[in-house]
Amino acid sequence: MGRILVVDDEPSMRRILVSNLRQEQHELVEANGVGDARRLLAECRFDAVITDQKMGDGEGLEVLAAVHDNDPALSVVFLTAFATIELAVESMRRGAFDFVTKPFVTEALLASAARAVEHTLLLRENERLRDTVLRLEGSSEITGRSAAIRRLREQIARVAPTNATVLIAGETGTGKELVARAIHHSSPRSSKPFVAVNCAAFTETLLESELFGHERGAFTGASHAREGLFEAAHEGSLFLDEAGEMSMAAQAKLLRVLTDGLVLRIGSTKPRQVDVRLIVATHRDLRQRAQEGLFREDLYYRLAVVPLSVPALREHLEDIPELCTLFLSQAARDLKVSPRKISADAMRALMNYDFPGNIRELRNLIERACILSTGEEITAENFPVPASVSASSDAVPRTPTALNPDHLAELIPETSDLREFLAAVETAIIQRSLKMTGGAQAEVARRLGLSRSHLSYKLAKHRIKSVTR
Ligand SMILES: Nc1ncnc2c1ncn2[C@@H]1O[C@H](COP(=O)(O)OP(=O)(O)OP(=O)(O)O)[C@@H](O)[C@H]1O
Ligand SMILES: [Mg+2]
Repeated sequence: MGRILVVDDEPSMRRILVSNLRQEQHELVEANGVGDARRLLAECRFDAVITDQKMGDGEGLEVLAAVHDNDPALSVVFLTAFATIELAVESMRRGAFDFVTKPFVTEALLASAARAVEHTLLLRENERLRDTVLRLEGSSEITGRSAAIRRLREQIARVAPTNATVLIAGETGTGKELVARAIHHSSPRSSKPFVAVNCAAFTETLLESELFGHERGAFTGASHAREGLFEAAHEGSLFLDEAGEMSMAAQAKLLRVLTDGLVLRIGSTKPRQVDVRLIVATHRDLRQRAQEGLFREDLYYRLAVVPLSVPALREHLEDIPELCTLFLSQAARDLKVSPRKISADAMRALMNYDFPGNIRELRNLIERACILSTGEEITAENFPVPASVSASSDAVPRTPTALNPDHLAELIPETSDLREFLAAVETAIIQRSLKMTGGAQAEVARRLGLSRSHLSYKLAKHRIKSVTR
């Protein structure tokens, strides 16, 4: 049952078509010729079109063209007199869905109309799924307002327009792939392919053939020649995920591509020129692996032209509320649950957890809580975070939760001089950062969201001695 546009310039013919199609509960709209059909196609959405071939003001093929302009998923069925069967073949070639010869048998018309409607709906569903996948995969929205995430976004914006190879380091689930996609999407290559490959997912030989392709008969099982992902990513970006897991042999080949831009398929002697921007991610310390001899040092330096480090979630806990809002709305959309809110105690539990699985873990926790919670609000019980770090523990809340006035009040001695107290807090925070960074003032300023000069001022004001590295 669908909404069908019936196009014919003969009123009597339209009447017969409509009365037949009505048996199947279709909703029917009539168009008196090509011009009328064009107008209606631009105005309304249909699930199928049934059109005559030859009409006073034009041909069925023009209706087909109008359909392609307005709604390429819409299926068109041609009604065709026996004499114009060649025209019908031509219309099929141009993308018509089906044709029914006149005079028609009712069953044939109804069957064709039903299939046309079904086909349109399937194509639309497909389109919708593709959009969803694109949105999920291609979404390069990096959420967060913390100094750490702001800096990451700035770095992405600076590196994206260049062709430089980027090495993204970060713990699992921190958003390395999201960063890689963001770089591609903001680069001049954004309309070209973004090809992602997880180096850890392949055996040594398979990874090589995956990346560089192979010729027919290059190895047992290579029954066809196949282009590799480097060729597939031509003019676009290739994302090598878990690059630290690459074998020494694959590393040697990769180095060659990076040096001269030439790819050699396995079993081939003919190098192919490729233009690919490489984005690499790893959860390992590649520099250290290079020093240990587990990763080629020369390749490391080629990859780490621009090193980017994605912060662990525990380093920007203040982004949790905003990330929660994002994941709650995504969960409502994807899991088809009613929009949920997070209760204050649940939020406290989240802010006190240190998220070894980082943002992915937060996302999974929220999805699970959306499914488990029955009411509108998600409570702390819906977050099965380890008790030792959850809000139910007696642990002193860490900074972001402490920003909550209630918590803050608990930390402050009852009789305290405000200025003295604030100075002590500032001193403690700065000293801790100095210690954590080995005295790197630029890094301290970045972590604390201060300018270098502002930090210098505070160091002087509180007479903090900066440690030398
Ligand atoms: N800043 C962010 N804003 C919004 N969503 C994010 C952010 N960072 C990560 N995510 C989401 O968290 C999930 C994990 O991100 P991603 O897959 O990019 O991490 P990863 O570092 O590649 O993880 P792994 O090391 O496990 O491969 C994804 O669903 C991603 O969309
Ligand atoms: Mg990843």
